[in-house]
Amino acid sequence: MTHERPVLASTRAELADVLAKRPGERVGFVPTMGALHGGHASLMAAARHEVDDGPLVVSVFVNPMQFAPGEDLDRYPRTLDDDVAVCAREGVDVVFAPSVDEVYPGGEPMVSIDPGPLAETLEGRTRPGHFRGVLTVVAKLFGLVRPDVAVFGQKDYQQLVLIRRMAADLCQGVEVVGAPTLRETDGLAMSSRNRFLDPEQRLQAVALNRTLRAAADEAPHGVDAALDAARGELRESLGVDLDYLEITLPDLSPVPADAPPGTEGRALIAAKVGTTRLIDNLPLTIGRP
Ligand code: PAF
Repeated sequence: MTHERPVLASTRAELADVLAKRPGERVGFVPTMGALHGGHASLMAAARHEVDDGPLVVSVFVNPMQFAPGEDLDRYPRTLDDDVAVCAREGVDVVFAPSVDEVYPGGEPMVSIDPGPLAETLEGRTRPGHFRGVLTVVAKLFGLVRPDVAVFGQKDYQQLVLIRRMAADLCQGVEVVGAPTLRETDGLAMSSRNRFLDPEQRLQAVALNRTLRAAADEAPHGVDAALDAARGELRESLGVDLDYLEITLPDLSPVPADAPPGTEGRALIAAKVGTTRLIDNLPLTIGRP
C-alpha cells in the first residue's frame, strides 16, 4: 500500500506555512523524540481519531534540555527517514523536525516551566531538571503547533500527569489525551531505548512488567502485600538494577493508609538493565489488607 508522505517542516516558518493552509480545522499533535515504534504509531492513531480529517502534526526533536550531563543524549537514536515512513503509514500530515537552534535560538531559554512538587518524586528524584526540560519544550511546541488536542503515552506516566497539570494550570487551551502503553508479546513496554538491549538483556527487561503484574495481582490484599509480591518477583530477576518501585494514587500522590477497598492506584517502576534505563507502570485496584 502506498502512503502520501507528510510535509517535512524543519523551521518554525515552514510549520506555520503548512498549518496556515488549514485554517479553522481541529489540529492534532503527537510530540516525540523520534526513533518511532509501534507505541508511537498508536499515539498517532489516537490523535487521528480525535481530530478526524483535521491536520495531524508529529514533532521529532531530541530535546537536550531534558537530558542531564552523563545521560544518553548523544546515543539517543536519530532515525528521521524511518520516522517519516512511520508517520506516512499513520496518515500524519506534517512532521516537524527542527534543529536545536530552531527550538532554542540563543541557547537555553531565560524563562522555563517550573514543574512543581510532582516533579520531585519518582523520575524527578533520579533525574533532577528532567521535567523542567520536558515541560519547557512541550510548552514551546504547543506554542508553535497550537494544537487542539495532544496525545502522550501512558508509558511515561509521570510526564503525562505533569503535562496535563501544565495545560490546565497554565490555561494552554490544549486537550491532553493519554494513550495506553503498547507492549511486545512478552509484556515489555515498547520504548525507543529497547533497541539498546542485547538479546540477554532484552529477556531480562521483561522483569519490569512481571514485577508490576505481581503488584497488580496482589493489590486487592493491600499496598504492602502488592509491594512484597513485586519485590519477590524482582529478587528472582537477574540483571535488573532497580531505581524505584512505588504504588501511588493515579495523580501520583501517596496512597492514604485508610484508602477504601476499590481505590484506583498506579504501580510505577524504573530500573537499569545493562546501561539502559527503562520505566514502566500499570494501573491497579487497591483492597484492604
Ligand atoms: O516523551 C517524549 O518523547 C518526550 O519527553 C517529549 C514529550 C517529546 C518531550 O521532549
